[in-house]
Amino acid sequence: MNDMYISSQLLEKVNDYIARMDYMRPPVGLYAPIEYVLSLGGKRIRPMLLLMAYNIYKDSIDKALSSAVAIETYHNYTLLHDDLMDKAAMRRGKPTVHIKWDDNTAILSGDTMLVLAYKLMGQCESSCLATVMNLFSETALEIGEGQQFDMEFETRMDVSEEEYIEMIRLKTSVLLAASLKIGALLAGAPDEDAARLYDYGIRIGLAFQLQDDYLDVYGDPALFGKKVGGDILCNKKTYMLINALQRADEAQHTELVRWIEAVEYKPEEKVAAVTRLYDQIGIKELCHQKIESYFKSADECLAQVNVPEARKAVLREFVSSLVERKV
Ligand code: IPE
Ligand code: IPE
Ligand code: MG
Ligand code: MG
Ligand code: MG
Repeated sequence: MNDMYISSQLLEKVNDYIARMDYMRPPVGLYAPIEYVLSLGGKRIRPMLLLMAYNIYKDSIDKALSSAVAIETYHNYTLLHDDLMDKAAMRRGKPTVHIKWDDNTAILSGDTMLVLAYKLMGQCESSCLATVMNLFSETALEIGEGQQFDMEFETRMDVSEEEYIEMIRLKTSVLLAASLKIGALLAGAPDEDAARLYDYGIRIGLAFQLQDDYLDVYGDPALFGKKVGGDILCNKKTYMLINALQRADEAQHTELVRWIEAVEYKPEEKVAAVTRLYDQIGIKELCHQKIESYFKSADECLAQVNVPEARKAVLREFVSSLVERKV
């Protein structure tokens, strides 16, 4: 076997491909926000997963780049709409599209990115086209379902931990899982491996969204790139809030519910008060354990992928670099 790509080489290839994409045409007001968001970077986790899965089976990754960037374009489309839905003013340390431009721009440039993503994915190897497009479309439907549950949960007080896990599986995990599976399918991997890589992605995704929720409360504002406390202000039913409600004593429960139902308050006071309650109830440690357990079960899944361990090393190391992430 030849040498495999290391993650910095893959990242460079993804960024290079994105920088060279030629979609700009009038009206610039539609395409400039797309260029803006795609050029802000982000971690590029999904295209990296796709390319790493592909590289397990094939030595050159160039033929998979259009699909990798399709996934990243799709992901960035979801962010334009998500930031509008979550009233988020900052992402990757910069103003979000609906703030820098306006709501309509976030909607229409977002829609356009969805179309660009499909156009790019359609460029994949023709022998895989139907399978890949089916998986991509099914995944996109599930993400919409997850996002709808996420929004509906904001106004519900009886969301269970199981419902939360299913919601984040839909809104986040399936895209990581599909990235890995599409990489495997494009490379002609055996079906069982493709399925195991999909399951691996689901478990990484659950850990990843739990971390995202954790960082939304406990992240370092200087590093996180998003406004800390946003989920608390939206009454997002995160693993942390659900468990805080269940584990609180009577006084803590009353205070938590008072903040959730409050109509007039200073945002920074609500964020500080709810965070203090999480601290008292021991939510930080609980969340850490849950994240760790998903990463561990993910690794058990990767162990079952039927290729020499050396072929998995880059992927395994990349995922373990996410465990301690601050961004
Ligand atoms: C943000 O995804 C949305 C979630 C699913 C949590 P990322 O944390 O991958 O965002 P970027 O692309 O690196 O900015
Ligand atoms: C985002 O979840 C999931 C999708 C965009 C599909 P969040 O709303 O938690 O993501 P961030 O925190 O805004 O990145
Ligand atoms: Mg959001
Ligand atoms: Mg959201
Ligand atoms: Mg979040």
